[in-house]
Amino acid sequence: MVLRGERIILRPVELSDIDRLLNINDEEVRQYLLSVFPLNKIREEEWVKNLYTGQRDIVFAIAMAETNQLVGTTGLHSIDWVNRCAEFGIAVTDKSYWNSGLGTQATQLTLRYAFEYLNMNRVQLRVYEYNHRAIHVYEKCGFVREGILRKARYLKGEYYDVIVMGILAKEYFSKRSSAQYSE
Ligand SMILES: CC(C)(COP(=O)(O)OP(=O)(O)OC[C@H]1O[C@@H](n2cnc3c(N)ncnc32)[C@H](O)[C@@H]1OP(=O)(O)O)[C@@H](O)C(=O)NCCC(=O)NCCS
Repeated sequence: MVLRGERIILRPVELSDIDRLLNINDEEVRQYLLSVFPLNKIREEEWVKNLYTGQRDIVFAIAMAETNQLVGTTGLHSIDWVNRCAEFGIAVTDKSYWNSGLGTQATQLTLRYAFEYLNMNRVQLRVYEYNHRAIHVYEKCGFVREGILRKARYLKGEYYDVIVMGILAKEYFSKRSSAQYSE
């Protein structure tokens, strides 16, 4: 399955992407993500080999349409096929591409996959209160703030709130049919 946007594609992650996946060790990228342990090639290789073996998590490479080069990953996790909901996650791990519209496009394509191909009814996410760029992108893509996990994130001596956001299928389709969707 490959989803095509204007400048990016979402495609399966391959072993040949591993070197670029290791950008995830960068401290500036990591401050926004869940994972705190270092990752080496062997762990990344195991992770890639185990992708697509189950039906609870689906991860796509975010790749430049022109070169096929991976710049990050996006995906749906903890997929609940009975209640038709999933948890969204994204990381543009190549920082040189931040703020150039790719994250917005990748989020919109992942939502398209969730609602138009998987028939999800709800997609939710958790984001740290200090991740203003991500919150802005999520709101632009139709996620609304649903709640707060108070002081659930620890970083460098401080605790921060974790914001829970969600979007329902009917909200997605109504936004998609108005002209607010760019991809
Ligand atoms: C969050 C992330 C996916 C966004 O992707 P991106 O390609 O950088 O985002 P875009 O370029 O599509 O959009 C960025 C938007 O945020 C805005 N923005 C940038 N910094 C901002 C800030 N400090 N406060 C508010 N908005 C900000 C930009 O102006 C832009 O909005 P606009 O298009 O309306 O002008 C990406 O930066 C990333 O992966 N960051 C590291 C990992 C991460 O945070 N993952 C999400 C964990 S919940």
